[in-house]
Amino acid sequence: MNGIKRIAVLTSGGDAPGMNAAVRAVTRCALAQGWDVLGVLRGYAGLVEGHMEPLSGRTVSNIMQRGGTILGSARCPEFESEEVRWEAVRQLRQNRVDALVVIGGNGSQTGALALDNMGFPVVGVASTIDNDLAGSEVTIGVDTALNIALEAIDRLKTTASSHQRAFLVEVMGRKCGYLALMAGLAGGAEIVLIPERETPPEEVARQLRAAYEHGKRHALAVVAEGAQYNAAKLDSWFQAHSERIGFDLRTTTLGHVQRGGTPTAFDRLLGTRFGAGAVEALTNGKRGVLVGLKEGKISTTSLAEVVGVRKSIDPELFQLASVLDQ
Ligand code: F6P
Repeated sequence: MNGIKRIAVLTSGGDAPGMNAAVRAVTRCALAQGWDVLGVLRGYAGLVEGHMEPLSGRTVSNIMQRGGTILGSARCPEFESEEVRWEAVRQLRQNRVDALVVIGGNGSQTGALALDNMGFPVVGVASTIDNDLAGSEVTIGVDTALNIALEAIDRLKTTASSHQRAFLVEVMGRKCGYLALMAGLAGGAEIVLIPERETPPEEVARQLRAAYEHGKRHALAVVAEGAQYNAAKLDSWFQAHSERIGFDLRTTTLGHVQRGGTPTAFDRLLGTRFGAGAVEALTNGKRGVLVGLKEGKISTTSLAEVVGVRKSIDPELFQLASVLDQ
């Protein structure tokens, strides 16, 4: 017997397309258990201020195709303070909440673990476009962000070919090179720069020059924002060494465009399955766990094993990217 009568759900950190599908699934699956559901507005910031509203089957209707999060999200560095976290617990207890579902990435799950360690039951849902969260092979929002990056890359390649130019394209991902590596592979990049395998600018120049000498009409370098030489730094390095590559060079930073827009079918389904998985975990008396995907199956991993753990990239895929660049 899990003893739950009411849960709350929040979305936290950077929004990710597919979060709404998770909110919807948490709400409807919880209602099916006979529980009440409160939606916390603006993540941990709203939680500390006690901003919660009842969610019904109707309030989460027609939201799955919408990007972002209907609950709102926020960065809340104040949540690192224990005093602030106790205020969150107080608000949850005052609202007679028995368990909390936290939909978010690394920072959000750090807060989730802290609350659970303070005695308040929490289940996390793996959601970030960065795919840097251990405990899940893929997180909500990654597929949409990747597809948006690819669409931009495809477009840039057409104009690059017309002018015989090289492009540096920077994608998001914090200190994780997953998005850059996958966008580079699927976008046919000449070179991929990621924080996990730093590449000096001389090597970037060498590869772009090789593409030029092979008679390519364009060349593409996909750069992770967390790489030591991000697009801005590379761009200024190339300003001083423009003769090295043959091509005329342009730089595009995709930025928050990658986080907006309509979630793909994959992210809607992932959000739906993760949301349902969170309620199932609570039904089974689990707490202090992250719901994620392992070997294609919905699974739970202790938050203590997830928080602070660096997820590695697949070295074989990185190697493949360098073989395919000829
Ligand atoms: O974590 C998601 C992410 O989009 C990162 O890729 C990026 O570095 C960061 O959030 C940007 O944060 P903000 O939206 O607060 O500027």
